[in-house]
Amino acid sequence: MGRYELHLARSKPNIVNLVETVPVLDTPPLPPDWLRCEVLERSLVVHHAGITPGETVLEVGAGGHAISTLPLALEVGPKGRVFAIERSRWAQFRQIVWASGLDDRTHLVACDARHLPFRPDSVDVAACVHGVRSLGGEEAIVEVLREMFRVAPRVFLAESLPIARNNAQAAHLAMYALREQVFEATTGRKDDRHYLPLHEMSDLVEQAGGLVTKSITLEIDLPHALAYFPREMVESVPGEKEREELLHQWDEAKSLIERHGEDHPPVGVILADRHQER
Ligand SMILES: C[S@@+](CC[C@H](N)C(=O)[O-])C[C@H]1O[C@@H](n2cnc3c(N)ncnc32)[C@H](O)[C@@H]1O
Repeated sequence: MGRYELHLARSKPNIVNLVETVPVLDTPPLPPDWLRCEVLERSLVVHHAGITPGETVLEVGAGGHAISTLPLALEVGPKGRVFAIERSRWAQFRQIVWASGLDDRTHLVACDARHLPFRPDSVDVAACVHGVRSLGGEEAIVEVLREMFRVAPRVFLAESLPIARNNAQAAHLAMYALREQVFEATTGRKDDRHYLPLHEMSDLVEQAGGLVTKSITLEIDLPHALAYFPREMVESVPGEKEREELLHQWDEAKSLIERHGEDHPPVGVILADRHQER
C-alpha cells in the first residue's frame, strides 16, 4: 500500500467519501490519482484552519480544480458557505464541485483578490491555500492580505516551505525552483514564485495589518507530482546562455525525481487575526 492509500485508509469517512468523488485524470506524466492525492493533502492542511461548521469562508486563489475548495466546503458543513475567488483558471472547477455534492454551499467568484467585491466583515474567515506563490511579488501579497483582513477578522494561510527533509522533497524543490524563471522568460507572467520561509510569510501578514496567533509547520508525507513541467518549455527560453543553464538544471531535477520520487515539502500554516489598532 502506498502512502496515499495509507493516509486515505486512516482518514475520516467524510474525507474518504469526498476524495472518492474526485475524478481520476489521464494526464501523463502525472499519475492518474494526482488530483485525489492533492485533495487529500488539502484536507489534512485545512483541518488546521479552525473553521467551525456554519461559518462563511472566502478562499483566495481557488485554482481550476477546486483542490482546496472541496475540503474547505467540507469543513463549513451544510449550513456554511465558501466563496472561491479565482481570477483566471476555472478549467474543471464547476464539474468537480458538482460531482462532490458540495455545490450548494460553494460559490465561484471570478475577480482579482486585490479588489474583493465583498463588504467589510462580510465573512468569518479568509483563506489562501497553496496560493501565496501565485499572488505576485511581496507588494501584491500584502495588497491581497489587506483585502482579506478587510472582509474577514480571521485569516488562514497554508503554503509549501522551501525546506527538504528527504531526497524526494529535495527533488520537488529542485524542479519547482525552475518554474519562476522559466515561466517568466517564456510567458512574461510571474507565477509559481519561490516558496517563502514561514517567518517571511508572517512578516507580510503583519505588514497587512494582521496579528499572527499561530504559526506551525506540518509534515505532510505524501507524494506531490506537481512541480514537474515539460522540458519543451525550457527549450523555448529566448536567451541562449540562460536556456542552456536552465536545461542543465531541468535535466538534473528530472533525474532526481526519477531516482527519489517527488514529495510535498513541509507546509507552513499561519492563523492571524485582524490587528485591533488598524
Ligand atoms: C497555485 S494555484 C492554487 C490552487 C489551489 N488553492 C490549490 O490548493 O491547489 C493559485 C491560484 O491563485 C490564482 N490567483 C493568483 N493571483 C490572484 C488574484 N490576485 N486574484 C484571484 N486569483 C488569483 C491563480 O490564478 C491560481 O489559479
